[in-house]
Amino acid sequence: MLIFEEIKPIKEYLNRLRKEGKSIGLVPTMGALHAGHISLIEASSKENDLTVCSIFVNPTQFNEASDLKNYPRTPEKDIDLLKEANCSVLFMPKVEEIYPATATTSLNFGHLETLMEGAFRAGHFKGVGLIVSKLFHIISPNKAYFGQKDLQQFAIIRQLVQDLDFDVNLICAPIVREANGLAMSSRNLRLSEEERKQAATYYQALAQAAQRLQNGEEYSLVKEFVHNFVAQKSLLRLEYFEMVNKNTLQALSTFEKGNTALCIAGFAGPIRLIDNIIV
Ligand code: PAJ
Repeated sequence: MLIFEEIKPIKEYLNRLRKEGKSIGLVPTMGALHAGHISLIEASSKENDLTVCSIFVNPTQFNEASDLKNYPRTPEKDIDLLKEANCSVLFMPKVEEIYPATATTSLNFGHLETLMEGAFRAGHFKGVGLIVSKLFHIISPNKAYFGQKDLQQFAIIRQLVQDLDFDVNLICAPIVREANGLAMSSRNLRLSEEERKQAATYYQALAQAAQRLQNGEEYSLVKEFVHNFVAQKSLLRLEYFEMVNKNTLQALSTFEKGNTALCIAGFAGPIRLIDNIIV
């Protein structure tokens, strides 16, 4: 696996391969890799000649300095995992390489950045849009792989690609979970054993909510159920539970089979987690 820290050499390298007709898949990450990330690498390896993984803890998408500071970083383990997964190229730039000066360009995603995660993490999606745009320009991938785990992020990137005419195919991959249902996340590394156990409740709440809606139960009652179910766990604090259209993310008041995403966010101890399920 080739590792690049600078923009110019990776661009030159990829340009050469592109001229030879090679297709490029990109998997953008912030590192502390787990089986969810690796599933994206594997999906890309199957469909492209070359897979580029980027690892960059992007400061512009963090709305809290302490979250950025405490974000898990495990570069050596990441490199081992990527080699094992036969990733072709790793792009691991330093902050100064990506942001030699403060970026002043600002993207606006309209209602998509005001609901759910946008409402609780001011400016987060502007930072995501900025770094993903930069990565698309640097790597020029044919396909780029993202996880359904961050459903709103995927909707934002779809909007970005449409609005700015990026010539890239977006792929949304399913959520990889722990045995107890907890969605894999780099942030899980920071959970205590008890917090990790209780955190699976978020997935259980989603699964039971999906079942109840499919059985015809009214949304208001399902929402009440979810709030009460999570409240039973001493270390959890629910931030939101929403039923939305899986593509537009507009709030739904009645369940639409096949089109509905149930989204949840909350804390386990000090760690904020998100999850969703498409029904
Ligand atoms: P990060 O949280 O590292 O996630 C990188 C990619 O892995 C995202 O597309 C995310 O949705 C996906 N992913 C995370 N957990 C997953 C799981 N359990 N199963 C499947 N896929 C999963 O998302 C980001 O980084 C950043 O915002 C980024 C897009 C890299 C921009 O900085």
